[in-house]
Amino acid sequence: MKGIILAGGAGSRLYPLTLVASKQLQPVYDKPMVYYPLTTLIEGGIRELCLISTPHDLPRFQQLLGDGSRFGLTIDYREQAQPEGIAQAFLIAEDFIGQDAVTLALGDNIFYGGDTFQRAFAEFKSGATIFGYHVNDPERYGVVEFDAHGKAVSIEEKPKSPKSNYAVPGLYIFDNEVIRITKNLKPSARGELEITAVNVEYMRRNELRVHRLPRGFAWLDAGTSSSLHEASAYVQTIEKRAGVKIGCPEEAAFRNGILSLSQLEEQMAKMPNCEYRAYLEHEVVAEAKRLEK
Ligand code: TTP
Repeated sequence: MKGIILAGGAGSRLYPLTLVASKQLQPVYDKPMVYYPLTTLIEGGIRELCLISTPHDLPRFQQLLGDGSRFGLTIDYREQAQPEGIAQAFLIAEDFIGQDAVTLALGDNIFYGGDTFQRAFAEFKSGATIFGYHVNDPERYGVVEFDAHGKAVSIEEKPKSPKSNYAVPGLYIFDNEVIRITKNLKPSARGELEITAVNVEYMRRNELRVHRLPRGFAWLDAGTSSSLHEASAYVQTIEKRAGVKIGCPEEAAFRNGILSLSQLEEQMAKMPNCEYRAYLEHEVVAEAKRLEK
């Protein structure tokens, strides 16, 4: 399974924050936003990643994440010249995807809690797997409607009158057909290759699974000043209360067996003295050593 993080777009709703650094590089409490979807993909067992961003912002992501070896990954980089739709990612990264299945994560989506994703990754064989999350304002998203048996029966992009409160979050798992399906899409009225159109095509083929994310699971998108602030407050609240970090890719890589203990220690040694390093040192490494004894 390959992974794509889509981290382009205009970020116009966050202006002037996004005049210099793109939305996905903004801090969400104590880390850059992109660390959160990156961690989600690592937790899903993905090792080969491609990050797509604008020609202007791509060098900043390369500076931040390098070749990925720090996290036990490989990371390729590709430009999206214009924000011509989320599904365009599959065309931009076609050679990277090769013959594999692919998970696409949006760079501004933050997930926390439970193991729904891990199970979905482990179970995935073919077709498409997406998720449904109950929200207050479904009209801002792709909206999925379920029948009485819990089967998804319609998906609409930003509908004026949503048929349900279930929005589709920015994490999608597809088989290799996604490339062919995207090539056959026509741009929508707003000039984009729509991810909803891809999902609708899988639904038409009867190959779409939609897992409802449980209550207690958190999905935050940090695209406006308020939601960015709320996401930071949420992360701070949980981290402070539980003494664990959300969105720490080094920790996720270690816990998933991608980084060994000595590799993690090596990475830690390169970090300045800071709270992030202290967390890895005391909560992750020291704990692992204690359990080894
Ligand atoms: P949006 O939040 O819909 O768009 P945006 O990031 O351009 O922000 P704004 O509306 O404030 O101008 O995009 C959702 C995510 O998908 C976000 O992480 C950016 C990314 N994206 C791309 O990288 N390329 C695209 O062509 C589109 C449409 C979105």
